[in-house]
Amino acid sequence: MSDSTFLVTVTDSLAQGDRGFLCSAGVQSSFSPIATADVLPRLRVGTRIVSERVSFIVQGVSWLPGVVGQPSSRVYLVEAVQDMVRGAHLCTAEREGYALAWITLSDKGSQGKRVDESGPLVGTLVREKLPLNTVQGFIIPDEISQLKGLLVDLALNQGVDLILTTGGTGVGPRDITPEATEAVIEKRLPGYERAMTAASLLKTPHGAISRAVAGTLGLSLIVNMPGSPRAVAECLEPLLPTLKHTLKKLQGDPSDCALLRKD
Ligand code: MTE
Repeated sequence: MSDSTFLVTVTDSLAQGDRGFLCSAGVQSSFSPIATADVLPRLRVGTRIVSERVSFIVQGVSWLPGVVGQPSSRVYLVEAVQDMVRGAHLCTAEREGYALAWITLSDKGSQGKRVDESGPLVGTLVREKLPLNTVQGFIIPDEISQLKGLLVDLALNQGVDLILTTGGTGVGPRDITPEATEAVIEKRLPGYERAMTAASLLKTPHGAISRAVAGTLGLSLIVNMPGSPRAVAECLEPLLPTLKHTLKKLQGDPSDCALLRKD
C-alpha cells in the first residue's frame, strides 16, 4: 500500500448526493459515520476521496467530541459523488480546482430581513474564470468576532482557497469588515485594494468610501468588497484575471513569472 492510499470502508449503500461524515476507524461515538478510514490524512474542503468504486467530496472539516475521557476526533463532512455499495476500498485523495467561500456581512441579511444577491453573484462571477471544486456561502451579522472566527476557520481549518466578503467596508457605525480582516491576515495585498479602488472610481466617486482590505492567511486569499451587487461586479472585474496566478504563487508554485508574459 503506498503512503498516499488509505482504506475507506463505506458503512452502508449510498446514493449520489448522500451526505454524512468520514472519520478514523477507531473513533468511538454514538454518531454514525457513512464511511471510516484506517488512516485519515489531513484533507481540505474540495478534496475528492476516490477509488474505482468510491467517490466522495469533502464539504467541511469538523470535530467529533470524544466520549468521556477521550480526545475529540477530526471528521470530514463528505458528499457521495456517485452511488456506492458497502465495503472497503483503497482510496486516494485528489484535489483539482479551487474552493470558494463567500461571506456576506449584513445584520438584516443574517436575520432573514433582506435577500442577499451579492454573495451568490460572487460565486457566479468567479466560476466563469476559475475552476471551482466547491462553493460555500455565509451570511453573518456585522460582528467583528464572528467574522474573524469564520475567516480563520475557513482559511486554516477548512482549507478554503479563496474567501470573498461583501459588505461592511464603509464608514457606518457597524462597518467592521476591514478591521476583522486586517486582524487575521498574514500578508496584505495593497495592489488588490488599489485595483478595486481604481476600477470603482471609474464608475462612481463613492468608490472612495470603501476601505476594502485584501491579504493572505495560510493558503487562502481573502478579499473584501463593498456590499451592493453592482459594486461586487465592479470590484471583481480587475481581480478575476489574476486570481489563479495569485493562488498558485500563494500555494507554493515556484515557476518563473517572467516566462508567463507573452508581450
Ligand atoms: N464601489 C463600486 N465599485 N461601486 C459602488 O457602487 N459603492 C460605494 C463604495 N464602493 C460602490 C463602491 C459606497 S456607496 C459605499 S458606502 C462603500 O463602497 C461601502 O459599501 P459597503 O459598506 O456596502 O461595503
